[in-house]
Amino acid sequence: MEHRLNARTAARWISRWDAQQQVYATAREERFEVITDVVRHAVRDADRPLVADLGCGPGSLAARIATALPHARVLAVDHDPLLLALGDACHGDAVTFVDARIGTGAWDERLAAQGPLDAVVSTTALHYLPPDVLSSVYERVHDLLRDGGVLVNADHLYQDDGPVRELAAAVARGHGRRSGGTAAGEDWYGWWAAVEACADFGELPAERRRRGLDLGSDNGLSAREHMELMRKAGFPSVGTVWQYGHSCVLAAVRD
Ligand SMILES: C[S@@+](CC[C@H](N)C(=O)[O-])C[C@H]1O[C@@H](n2cnc3c(N)ncnc32)[C@H](O)[C@@H]1O
Repeated sequence: MEHRLNARTAARWISRWDAQQQVYATAREERFEVITDVVRHAVRDADRPLVADLGCGPGSLAARIATALPHARVLAVDHDPLLLALGDACHGDAVTFVDARIGTGAWDERLAAQGPLDAVVSTTALHYLPPDVLSSVYERVHDLLRDGGVLVNADHLYQDDGPVRELAAAVARGHGRRSGGTAAGEDWYGWWAAVEACADFGELPAERRRRGLDLGSDNGLSAREHMELMRKAGFPSVGTVWQYGHSCVLAAVRD
């Protein structure tokens, strides 16, 4: 697809992306570190571990894992051509970007072709999937992982109890206030508006519109419901390894 992105311009856009994502993902950088710690432990015995990031966007988490674990092969999956192009321009040396709509058709083909996975991670992405699709994705991830492999899902995941759910949201808002939001005050919509106004992206905005990528849905599943779906998918060991307000990191280990 035609565009004029190079590594430097892509890095600038991704840094702006990271700033606006902090509005939505409480303690996002710490969350990335937690995910990386889980993966590091899970792959400690592998010479050349294989890790996949589902709903990678421009590869912020995938790139951090590739830097922390330079011996790993990192596959990053998304269906947004513009975010994939940004990721590839900036991190293409360290991360392999895969264009696929998770949960639809042969979305897992490229992952399966690489052999069993040691770890599958995701951050601020799986809440877009309807519950039945998410259930099938967890099942497929279970089958793609080697024995002892780990699934890590980090996202804003709700509490079942209403008042506690509100408290968790208040904690997230408190964190947002203390960390000052983003320096530029840009949110998701502002970031996309700026992208649309920039000629460097060439045909990519039109292509994402053609694909109908109007994001914003949320399956509303609680952390408990996610863990139930993971168990149903075949993972015997499931639990929370970190939480800040409603920002959670869930881990599931295959037998
Ligand atoms: C809020 S962004 C987060 C991106 C990245 N994980 C991060 O934290 O910066 C959600 C991402 O999930 C991707 N996504 C949502 N549903 C998807 C699907 N069914 N298949 C592939 N990607 C999907 C979107 O394209 C988007 O890049």
